[in-house]
Amino acid sequence: MGSTLFRTKNIERSIQDTEEPEHALKKTLSALDLTVFGVGVIIGTGIFVLTGKVAKENAGPAVSLSFVVAAVVCALAALCYAEFASTVPVAGSAYTFSYATLGELPAWIIGWDLVLEFALGTAVVAVGWSGYIRSLLDNAGLHLPPSLSGREGAGGFGFDILAAGLVLLLTAILVVGMRLSARVTRLVVAVKVAVVLIVIVAGAFFINTANYKPFVPKAEPVPASGSLKAPLIQLIAGWVPSDFGVLGIFTAASVVFFAFIGFDIVATTAEETRNPQRDMPRGILGSLLICTILYVAVSIVVTGMQHYDDLSVDAPLADAFKSIGHPWYAGVISFGAAVGLTTVCLILLLGQTRVFFAMSRDGLLPRFFSRVHPRFKTPHRPTVLLGVVIAVVAGFTSLSELAELVNIGTLFAFVVVAIGVVILRRTRPDLHRAFRTPFVPVVPALSVCASLWLMLNLPAKTWLRFAVWLVIGFLVYFLYGRTHSRVGEEQRATGRAGDATP
Ligand code: ALA
Repeated sequence: MGSTLFRTKNIERSIQDTEEPEHALKKTLSALDLTVFGVGVIIGTGIFVLTGKVAKENAGPAVSLSFVVAAVVCALAALCYAEFASTVPVAGSAYTFSYATLGELPAWIIGWDLVLEFALGTAVVAVGWSGYIRSLLDNAGLHLPPSLSGREGAGGFGFDILAAGLVLLLTAILVVGMRLSARVTRLVVAVKVAVVLIVIVAGAFFINTANYKPFVPKAEPVPASGSLKAPLIQLIAGWVPSDFGVLGIFTAASVVFFAFIGFDIVATTAEETRNPQRDMPRGILGSLLICTILYVAVSIVVTGMQHYDDLSVDAPLADAFKSIGHPWYAGVISFGAAVGLTTVCLILLLGQTRVFFAMSRDGLLPRFFSRVHPRFKTPHRPTVLLGVVIAVVAGFTSLSELAELVNIGTLFAFVVVAIGVVILRRTRPDLHRAFRTPFVPVVPALSVCASLWLMLNLPAKTWLRFAVWLVIGFLVYFLYGRTHSRVGEEQRATGRAGDATP
């Protein structure tokens, strides 16, 4: 049993699988496409919405330091992701990487975990998008009935029709093919980056340095009543749960980490990249660097324009301009945010379908889902299935706690990828690595510690929910995946244990 749970999929075999005509995706993406994909998915709800909430509740103006902390965690993980993605250029990201290194069960856990990250992430961002659109509609005097405006504020039944509609529309775009989605994405990303630059450049003229005092507000104990809401580390260490202060910077970092989610998705499109060996690392590290610079600049500007206590929680960037008497800027920013969140949804959905596709191709999920569309060459079946499920979730969900659940899932994937890099260096030193993580095993070890540290700064109840999701995943694996695994079938056919590849 042990050997079947940890059976691995040979790397050459993974690459060979992608060349079977019925299961092959088109190779159309360049390094620029990947960077645009990265920036397209990274800048979103995190900077447009969460900045205000964490500045107000956890970190004050020091939220810019929280972005730096989260960026360091992501950069360490990115160095590991880049080596994996450039060595194992097939769809499925951390899932594929761990199947090649750690074995089938860990790979399944990671795939299951990525489903959580991408599917819930898509739903969270769709709901954020819908909020911005409603605010623009309200400006134009158009009001949706509360029952069609989502869970928040709806007394009884509440379905977010805009969020669900967005997910279904994007699903259709993805079914039609990568070329269209890459082109649409490029245009939308340009609008989003322009709006972020407007915030930084125009906002810089309205900074009042008095708003930076105190830069790191003094720690304030939080009421003991909601102990499950306290970061796990504070409960484990027996500290008095508190907001602000130095610990507040880390609590905020574990939340604004959501703002960086997405660079790992660049890795999920490796199979559709023309020259993955060279372009993957460029795409991943490039998009991460651009976003880090923009986030730190935006958070410094916004907390300088308005005192952190007064920042809005729903639309902090736009409302900061309203507060200083510039509603026109606020309108432009709201519009750009709404446009920008569209690409985030699109790319999260794309990453999700590709992971599902890879798991199905390996037989861990029904193989029915891994036949590509005869004309569009896209994995249309998982795209449609997941699109519909996510549209329903987006329609019925409110966002904040879901974002924390997405974060814990993503950080967990980072831990596994970092460990995988070290294992692969030992087990397959012969493989060509277009990009090599520097200072192995020090950088992967730091990546594991940094990711775990942020995970520990998430609320205890997020850990509980994550545990429930993993238990469901184990059940699915043991009831279906283990017996249907393609690698396992081949092992049985050849009567061999261990690696099933020639
Ligand atoms: N990083 C993405 C966002 O901020 C998921 O919305």
